Amino acid sequence: MSKPAPSSTRILVIHGPNLNLLGRREPEIYGRTTLDEINSQLSALGAQLGLALDTFQSNHEGAIVDRIQQAEGAYDGLIINAAAFTHTSIAIRDALAMLNAPVIEVHLSNIHKREAFRHTSLMAGVVTGQIIGLGAAGYALALRGLSEMVRPAVTLV
Ligand code: DQA
Repeated sequence: MSKPAPSSTRILVIHGPNLNLLGRREPEIYGRTTLDEINSQLSALGAQLGLALDTFQSNHEGAIVDRIQQAEGAYDGLIINAAAFTHTSIAIRDALAMLNAPVIEVHLSNIHKREAFRHTSLMAGVVTGQIIGLGAAGYALALRGLSEMVRPAVTLV
């Protein structure tokens, strides 16, 4: 099979604070897959689906807000794990609310099974959908979901 043509459909993946330490950060909760591994798997899947992917990680709330603001008009869809900012950041929520592109919120762990302060996502009311508690596999599922939304004419297997 020939390679898909370079895609003009662009997806941005944003990883919040402490996710740079995935693989060694509380592996019993977050698993042993590193952020680099997640990003490479996503890029490979993006290539299969004909999507161009950019990834961004920051431990800084304002940097994440800046990146979301820059995403308007530049990306067709967004995946975000805002990590601890999920539960605290009205600024990130407000930035997401201004985006016209679909947004999927991902969490590796099931935040609803954990401490009470993790049960509330400030992002929940402004995102298109959530994938929670499926570990690293959740990112690939989010990308497949976005792919269906941004390229509805393409039949996926
Ligand atoms: C997390 C859950 C958050 O509560 C936590 O602060 C994280 C990771 C997850 O992916 O399960 O850093 O977003």
